Amino acid sequence: MDEYKIKHIEEGLTQIEFPEFDKVSSDAPVFYNPHMEMNRDLSILAIQVFQKEQDREINICDLFGGSGIRGVRYKNEIDGVGEVSINDISETANHYERHNIKLNNLSDVEVYQHDASMFLRMKRGEFDVIDIDPFGTPSPFLDSAGYCARRNSLLCVTATDTSALCGTYQEPCIRKYNSKPYKSEYCHENGIRILAGFVALTLSKYAKFIEVKMSHSTEHYMRLYLEIKKGSKKTDESLKNIGYISHCKHCLHRQTSSGLAGPIDDVCPVCGEKLVHAGPLWLGSIQDNDFIEKMIDETNYKKINTEKQALKLLNSCLVEADAPATFYDVHSICKSLKVSAPKFDLILDELKNDGFIAVKTHFSPIGIKTDAEIEDIKKILIKLNENI
Ligand SMILES: C[S@@+](CC[C@H](N)C(=O)[O-])C[C@H]1O[C@@H](n2cnc3c(N)ncnc32)[C@H](O)[C@@H]1O
Repeated sequence: MDEYKIKHIEEGLTQIEFPEFDKVSSDAPVFYNPHMEMNRDLSILAIQVFQKEQDREINICDLFGGSGIRGVRYKNEIDGVGEVSINDISETANHYERHNIKLNNLSDVEVYQHDASMFLRMKRGEFDVIDIDPFGTPSPFLDSAGYCARRNSLLCVTATDTSALCGTYQEPCIRKYNSKPYKSEYCHENGIRILAGFVALTLSKYAKFIEVKMSHSTEHYMRLYLEIKKGSKKTDESLKNIGYISHCKHCLHRQTSSGLAGPIDDVCPVCGEKLVHAGPLWLGSIQDNDFIEKMIDETNYKKINTEKQALKLLNSCLVEADAPATFYDVHSICKSLKVSAPKFDLILDELKNDGFIAVKTHFSPIGIKTDAEIEDIKKILIKLNENI
């Protein structure tokens, strides 16, 4: 390992070293992506909140360790952590994981070199938190995560194959997530719902079900924090959250239908054009108010470099927590109406004055989450244009 020039970085309260590289890529001897710092910071907050809610010592699995930065930070920066297991298939990664454990003077952190699925199969029921942060899709590892996950545990999942989840191409999404996507202005939200739905369906064979505590789509990745619970009756009940979202490309109407094989309208009830469908996906909540409020509060006690950015995102997720699925892109609607876009806050105010829910969303700076129908929104946009 002496052949490498070493890079030293600090995240939170933790020191990390790894071989220097020119470009963030899976070809680097040991992977480290500085753009994922907020993802790691939010994980510190989420796992701390989870630990406090459980009120017990928690064991954590960092399944794809790389430099070991997650596992090392979790042990170093989260209270109430017992054993941390850092796994990576690469021997070079293992070397730096051990090095970084020593660098931070940590005990109770073990390093393993296994294929991720094999590791989870060997360690059934041992972890309170499983963090899945692979290259690209988490899909091949989720069955083993479902097998391994214990009752009342936390599953943290990153996906960087956003083009599949967002439906840029349909086939990879069908192949990896057994779900059909479509491209739309809210395709990132659909992507999170497809991933959550796939986890829910995968875990259901083990009579386990999910509660989504927090989720976000940021830059090139999506991240979900899922509490795993157990029980066949409750799993059956929870699967009622699986369904489809249908979209009219002509008038921009959208609607949801619950159930894996329930009836789905083929024709838009507003304009009579054909609907396109995405799913199966998760129609249940993708943000938990209470959990996010606690994550926000936790920023008072943690040193995280991305605090400003993380708080902005958390507050945005909090605001949209109770809003319905999907959101409307104001510019797309104005374009279809051939009118100019009024001030964003004016549109929100008008919708609220008419008695609708109307909030911003972290998915898009020009997106509105509302229970208003497309025709209501169009009327408001036309009215506001008359006053411009
Ligand atoms: C995206 S990197 C992990 C980054 C790290 N979690 C972080 O926050 O910096 C993915 C890691 O997974 C490892 N890996 C790839 N395939 C694997 C497999 N099947 N089982 C275990 N580790 C694997 C790679 O060696 C690489 O270090």
